[in-house]
Amino acid sequence: MAKTTLLLAVSFLATMLTLSSSQVAPLSLTTTTCPLPPELSPVLLTDQTSKLIASTDYGNMVHVQPAAVANPRSVDDISLLIKSSYSCCDPYGVAARGNGHCTKGQAMVRNGVVLNMRSLSNNVGNAGSSNNVVVSPDRTFADVSGGALWIEVLNETLKLGVAPVTWTDLLYLTVGGALSNAGIGGQTFRFGPQIANVHELDVVTGKGEIVTCSANKSSELFYAVLGGLGQFGVITRARIALAPAPQRVKWMRLLYSDFTTFSNDQEKIIANYSQPDSVDYIEGQVLLDNGTPNLWETSFFPTEVVPTITSLVKEKGVVYALEVAIYYNSTNEEIKDQQMKQLIRQLKNERGLAAMKDVTYYKFLDRIPVPDPSIPHSHPWLNLFVPKSGVSKFNDGVVRDIIMRTNITVGPVLFYPMNRNKWDDKMSVVIPDEEIFYAFSLLSQSNVDDWPKYLDQNAAVLAHCEEAGIEVKQYLAGHSTQQDWIKHFGPKWAGFQQMKAQFDPKFILSPGQKIFN
Ligand SMILES: Cc1cc2nc3c(=O)[nH]c(=O)nc-3n(C[C@H](O)[C@H](O)[C@H](O)COP(=O)(O)OP(=O)(O)OC[C@H]3O[C@@H](n4cnc5c(N)ncnc54)[C@H](O)[C@@H]3O)c2cc1C
Ligand SMILES: *[C@@H]1O[C@H](CO)[C@@H](O)[C@H](O)[C@H]1NC(C)=O
Ligand SMILES: *[C@@H]1O[C@H](CO)[C@@H](O)[C@H](O)[C@H]1NC(C)=O
Ligand SMILES: *[C@@H]1O[C@H](CO)[C@@H](O)[C@H](O)[C@H]1NC(C)=O
Ligand SMILES: *[C@@H]1O[C@H](CO)[C@@H](O)[C@H](O)[C@H]1NC(C)=O
Ligand SMILES: *[C@@H]1O[C@H](CO)[C@@H](O)[C@H](O)[C@H]1NC(C)=O
Repeated sequence: MAKTTLLLAVSFLATMLTLSSSQVAPLSLTTTTCPLPPELSPVLLTDQTSKLIASTDYGNMVHVQPAAVANPRSVDDISLLIKSSYSCCDPYGVAARGNGHCTKGQAMVRNGVVLNMRSLSNNVGNAGSSNNVVVSPDRTFADVSGGALWIEVLNETLKLGVAPVTWTDLLYLTVGGALSNAGIGGQTFRFGPQIANVHELDVVTGKGEIVTCSANKSSELFYAVLGGLGQFGVITRARIALAPAPQRVKWMRLLYSDFTTFSNDQEKIIANYSQPDSVDYIEGQVLLDNGTPNLWETSFFPTEVVPTITSLVKEKGVVYALEVAIYYNSTNEEIKDQQMKQLIRQLKNERGLAAMKDVTYYKFLDRIPVPDPSIPHSHPWLNLFVPKSGVSKFNDGVVRDIIMRTNITVGPVLFYPMNRNKWDDKMSVVIPDEEIFYAFSLLSQSNVDDWPKYLDQNAAVLAHCEEAGIEVKQYLAGHSTQQDWIKHFGPKWAGFQQMKAQFDPKFILSPGQKIFN
């Protein structure tokens, strides 16, 4: 994966070099007025390539250059770096960078230091990935480096027959990066987001202090950091809950042309979240008539059905795909088969438009192809949480009007519900104030420099929600003014600000989020 990341970064170089100089900060070898700690010189990189990598992310829209990139060998290196900034009269920013999969420069810092968290994870202990992920003797949790990728966590835990219970779609994200947001996916309705499945964290605060925190110990810091957008500390270790892993997965997609039928079925399924025989995973996709073959969606179906799907999409403009999965073992396959059949009987999808795959648990979790680095794109994404009360209006005004009319969306569009009671309101993340809300993700991909019209579409979506009184919250939000952030946090803003004053009073950490800087 390190190689892929490098390729990704290098492929962006061509794009980077065409940027006008006004977009790139003037370079300086110290940060601003502060010298960097001499003890760290072996791990500080100031070459142009390293800086260009650190000024690029998956969005490929924002490019800001740091003064240096640090490859920390240990938690102490991170602490030393932050302390050095903290004690300087004009502190420089420090941004942890996980795998750079954010889209709006959130892991960048102008003239400060980018902390390459992958380096920490590669340096834990001396045996690489095995010390990166340490499973407890009773196999109920794993201690994981903040810079580890979820695919590494899966690989190591599966060797012992266990695994985390809740996942993101793509596993090539870091543990620290996902926990700074929420970490959502098809298991969230049942087990909550990844932040709700953490027992303990090691954090280096904005004062450079190394703190172990949990619900019982330094709990203010623990709850602040989970979903805290990197604002209160750098996550260097997380203790993640584990459960016995299933062997295989029955994985289905069923098509709907009517939104209400689709969302009613989704909600019927998530209502059973606490039953032992609940399905294990649910998501949903929107298929659009946008001129491109919906390859990712249609490749799931037998080739002879694809023309039927294509013409249905043409006829209706929009088709919805409900996606469910049931896990099983060799010992209970028959029971689980019956359960799947019983479920299918209750669902009201278009007759005949359903397909099933039977895959290993590993293959199921690792189902999203790693983004192809050889063709540079921009990713002007919009991720929203939509309250159930407004979801039908949202479908009419956003999906069936703005998106269909604009007809520029290329890339997956996700639409699936989850239960609020699986989230913990003490954590920093902001969600709608309703028992059920939907994740709606417009995962647009554009040619490099063709992204402004997608951002216009995103803005039109948000403006429509505002007008129609649909109280959406952005996930992986890219608000650019403090006013917008204050509105985003609502009643949580005062607490968020207070935690900042306590744990990062000099505004050193993750300034690319544009919350305080
Ligand atoms: C193809 C793709 C699919 C995705 N699918 C999902 C999904 O299904 N569900 C979901 O929830 N998200 C998903 N994401 C979004 C993902 O959660 C975010 O990109 C997130 O930022 C994690 O990425 P990262 O590890 O590369 O962190 P980065 O993007 O590098 O960092 C994100 C932010 O967190 C901060 N940060 C990073 N590491 C740490 C740390 N150790 N301690 C403190 N702060 C830190 C950074 O400073 C930055 O502000 C997806 C992204 C992509 C590109
Ligand atoms: C995880 O394991 C799979 C299969 O054993 C292997 O192909 C893959 O390279 C591993 N990935 C990582 C990131 O370790
Ligand atoms: C917190 O402490 C209580 C009582 O000591 C204990 O039962 C509980 O498991 C602890 N919780 C965590 C998350 O450590
Ligand atoms: C929900 O659970 C009930 C009780 O076990 C079961 O009868 C019903 O079929 C389930 N519904 C769905 C959609 O899974
Ligand atoms: C969207 O545009 C494509 C061509 O770019 C076209 O094939 C398709 O019919 C259009 N869809 C709608 C709903 O107008
Ligand atoms: C698979 O088997 C293990 C024990 O062997 C069990 O704990 C687990 O719940 C089973 N998973 C499923 C999905 O049946």
